[in-house]
Amino acid sequence: MIKKCLFPVAGYGTRFLPATKSMPKEMLPVVNKPLVQYGVEEAIEAGMTTCAFVTGRGKRSIADHFDISYELEHQIAGTGKETYLQSIREVLDKGVFTMVRQREMKGLGHAILTGRTLIGDEPFGVLLSDDLCLHAEGVGVLAQMVELYNEYRCSIVAIQEVPMDEVHKYGVISGESLGDGIYRVDDMVEKPAQEDAPSNLAIIGRYILTPDIFEHIERTEPGANGEIQITDALQAQARQGCVMAYKFKGTRFDCGSVPGFVEATNHVYENYYKND
Ligand code: G1P
Repeated sequence: MIKKCLFPVAGYGTRFLPATKSMPKEMLPVVNKPLVQYGVEEAIEAGMTTCAFVTGRGKRSIADHFDISYELEHQIAGTGKETYLQSIREVLDKGVFTMVRQREMKGLGHAILTGRTLIGDEPFGVLLSDDLCLHAEGVGVLAQMVELYNEYRCSIVAIQEVPMDEVHKYGVISGESLGDGIYRVDDMVEKPAQEDAPSNLAIIGRYILTPDIFEHIERTEPGANGEIQITDALQAQARQGCVMAYKFKGTRFDCGSVPGFVEATNHVYENYYKND
């Protein structure tokens, strides 16, 4: 059983300034729900009911979102407006929320290592809430990956094919195809130039990691952008043992970019929003 999911949420969200000047980018709403809540719902659906946030300065509203607001509850108790709180009440009923602060931004690998104290010695999920993933039949990406983990018992990254002129934005893998969108990873590069990319299979913000990853991160030197990259730690793990990559079922929106965010908003409004 994988019970915990790590949410690195300390990043600045510079691409959404000035909106993110005093508000976490993870709290930007896609229609009427903050991005991070979509992620938490996906983790809980996969059985990861402990959601561990690696936060930073200016991120307090994330902690408040996953807590009771007594004043609000009191104000709207017994009125028709209670339905608006239904989705977050369900999340609060099922989940446990823990936090640790990352004091310096030294990359995704460093953020994950900062979360070690909340995870301990067990396999865990990682979800980057910038990547909003929706699946028409309702089986979230993390739940799909848990199924795979039960078979292979090793770290897994979610991947999708991207155009070659976009590989420089991602971690990129290559590996042996085992069918059904599953690969055994043999190479991984963080943000390669197009000519250095081993393929066009890009890592999307969903991971299942076995706890030995923490030792690999500790040994990882700063890489792309001078940051400690989870991709480099995973590459070391793949060389020693096994890392799988999985072409997930569903649609992914890059909500870290304005066009992706707008696309997600339109998609959710047209397909999921119920007007009242
Ligand atoms: C991070 C990872 C990268 C991955 C991407 C997915 O990059 O480092 O390997 O492909 O998330 O969204 P970031 O987008 O934080 O630069």
